[in-house]
Order: sequence, then structure tokens, then C-alpha cells
Amino acid sequence: MKFATELIHGGNPIDPEHGSLSHPIYLSSTFAQHSMDHFGRFDYSRSGNPTREALEEAVAGLEKGATGLAFASGMAAIASTLLIFAPGDHLVVCEDVYGGTFRLLSTLFKGWGLQATFVDATDTAAIAAAIRPETKALYLETPSNPLIKIIDLAAAAALAKEKGILTIVDNTFMTPYLQRPLELGCDIVLHSGTKFLNGHSDVLCGFAVARDPEVGKRLRFIQNAFGAVLGPQDCWLVLRGLKTLKVRMEEHQAGARRIVTWLKEQREVAKVYYPGLPEHPGYEIHNAQASGPGAVLSFELASYELTKSLGGVESILSYPAKMSHAAMPPAEREARGIKDTLVRLSVGLEDPEDLIADMERVLAR
Ligand SMILES: Cc1ncc(COP(=O)(O)O)c(C=O)c1O
Repeated sequence: MKFATELIHGGNPIDPEHGSLSHPIYLSSTFAQHSMDHFGRFDYSRSGNPTREALEEAVAGLEKGATGLAFASGMAAIASTLLIFAPGDHLVVCEDVYGGTFRLLSTLFKGWGLQATFVDATDTAAIAAAIRPETKALYLETPSNPLIKIIDLAAAAALAKEKGILTIVDNTFMTPYLQRPLELGCDIVLHSGTKFLNGHSDVLCGFAVARDPEVGKRLRFIQNAFGAVLGPQDCWLVLRGLKTLKVRMEEHQAGARRIVTWLKEQREVAKVYYPGLPEHPGYEIHNAQASGPGAVLSFELASYELTKSLGGVESILSYPAKMSHAAMPPAEREARGIKDTLVRLSVGLEDPEDLIADMERVLAR
């Protein structure tokens, strides 16, 4: 089945009872059992729910994994996945990882005993140098957030395999439409489904997809034990959102390309970070592992004054230093190159010309 067909039919088997094309929402915490000895498919919704199962199968299918799991948020998916490790274990993490993941690793999990070393993962040799005997996994994001750095996933996964450790990839920015890390040898894919997978800014959700059924089993145990599951109503909204993933991503991407072209012509813009630009240092690697540059870009303004005045232009424009990466101490941000003049733009589905007109007005001020 091709991707677009899988989006429509993958997680959406036609309801055998009444033929409803839209998957039913099973709003039930508990399921009655016919006998004490033979339980049905479901008993309690934390352990399993038919609407959640349809969504989990849909996302697992799109990412080409064995097991998909839906969580109450992207952070719930990330935190639950990190529970496969034990105190004393060590992770090698890409240095400009999402701010919430940095906070989780540098506070709660650090206190619990899980150690993390942050490296410039665009350099596979730097990853290799950070691996210790107690290292259990690589944790990567590509394109990274907010500096849009590109990590060679196949090279990282090959290194991890050689060392007998896992490779975990947060694929939020790309979605399985543009990039499928499990096909490149990685082991677990994570998502903030709150973003493109759902796509309509009305649900907070997260996903973990495991390539190997045994890893999937461990994650499913944690999902049930820890309990940060996604409710059936939200699962249904994501099932609906997913159907248009391909057309949305194509349109988002077309808008991003148009805006990047415009930004590059502005003298107030010092630098544009976008993997679709041939001068991007990760351009070739990105093209080899993804089928498009996506819809998230960052740019640096020539001055801090301009950055401050851009705050109110559009809700999809974000300011990493005060928003997504506020949890990262200023010195850590500075060391990673996340400057106070850096702005991140996630291009929506408005007409890009309207967005450009908005930014033009602000820059003219
Ligand atoms: C790359 C990435 N991963 C994870 C998260 C966390 O997801 P959520 O906000 O759904 O908890 C975010 C949120 O912005 C993100 O951008």
C-alpha cells in the first residue's frame, strides 16, 4: 500500500458491526467479560482500548514498526520510553535536543540516576567518542530543534548496532511521510503527535514506535504500568487528522520553501537554517534519508531589537530562547549556538504571501 492509501485505510478498518467508515470512539474505562476464564480483547482502557489500538496500529504502520503506543503528550511518550533504562545507564544525546527533553534528562532522570552526555551528533565520531561501557542508547533529533542540524541516521544506527545499543529518534518535525528512521536501522521512533501528526492544534499527544516486537513489549509494559495513555476521544481526533497528513505536509513544505526564498533576500535576516537549502551543511545527508525538507525553519535576525518586535506577528513564529528552550540555561543555549536573535518558524497552511506580508510589515518597522 502506498503512503497516501495507508493514511486513509491503515488504522481505519471498516467497523464490522455497522460499517461505519469513521472508527468508533470507545468511551469506556472497563469492558465486561463473558467468562472468568476467557477474557475478551479488552478489559481496562489503561491496558488497551479499541480506539487507541486503531491509532497505535496506524502510526506503527506509517513508521514501519512492529508496535505503536499512544501517550497523553509527546513528553509522556519520551518519559515513558526512557523508563526502559535503569539508574546507572548512560545515553548519548544530540546537543540541541528539544528543550523539554533536555529538562527531563537534566533534572528528573538525572536525579533518578540516568546519565546523559550531550554531543554535536552531526559528527558521528563525536557520538562514538561519547559512548561508554554503561551507554545504552543514542537519542537523536534530525532536523534538530531549533538549529535544524542534520544527523546521519544510518551512520548513527550502524554505530549503535556495532556497540549493541539502541538508537532512539524523535521524528516530530519530519513525520513518517518525509522520514522513516526505523527503515534506516534505528530502533525506536518518538513523536510529539501534538504537531504535524494530528495537525489541527486541538490535541496534545505523543507516540513511541518500536521496530522490534520485543522492544515494543517492554514499552507496552511501561505504558500500562506508568499509565500516561491517550484518551479515546483524542485518539479519534488524531485518526481524523492523520488522514490528511500527506496533503498537509506537501502544502506546509511548499509554503516553507516560498518563505525561505523570501527570507534569504532580506537584509535584516542574518542567516536562514533550512535543510532544503543546498548551502545547508547537512543538505546531502538530509536528502539521502528524507524525502523533503519539511516545514520548520529558523532564522537569525541582524539585531536583538528586531527579534523582540517579531514576537507578536504570528502564533506559529516562536522564540526558542524564551519558549521551547527556556528550560535550557543561557550558558548551555549559548554553547549550542541558540542565540537570542534566533527565531523559529513552523509554516502553517495560510497563504505564504500573507505571512510574508506580515513579516515585511514588522521588518519595515
Ligand atoms: C521535537 C519535539 N519533541 C517533543 C515535544 C514534546 O511534545 P508535547 O508538547 O506534545 O509534550 C516537542 C514539543 O514542542 C517537540 O517539538
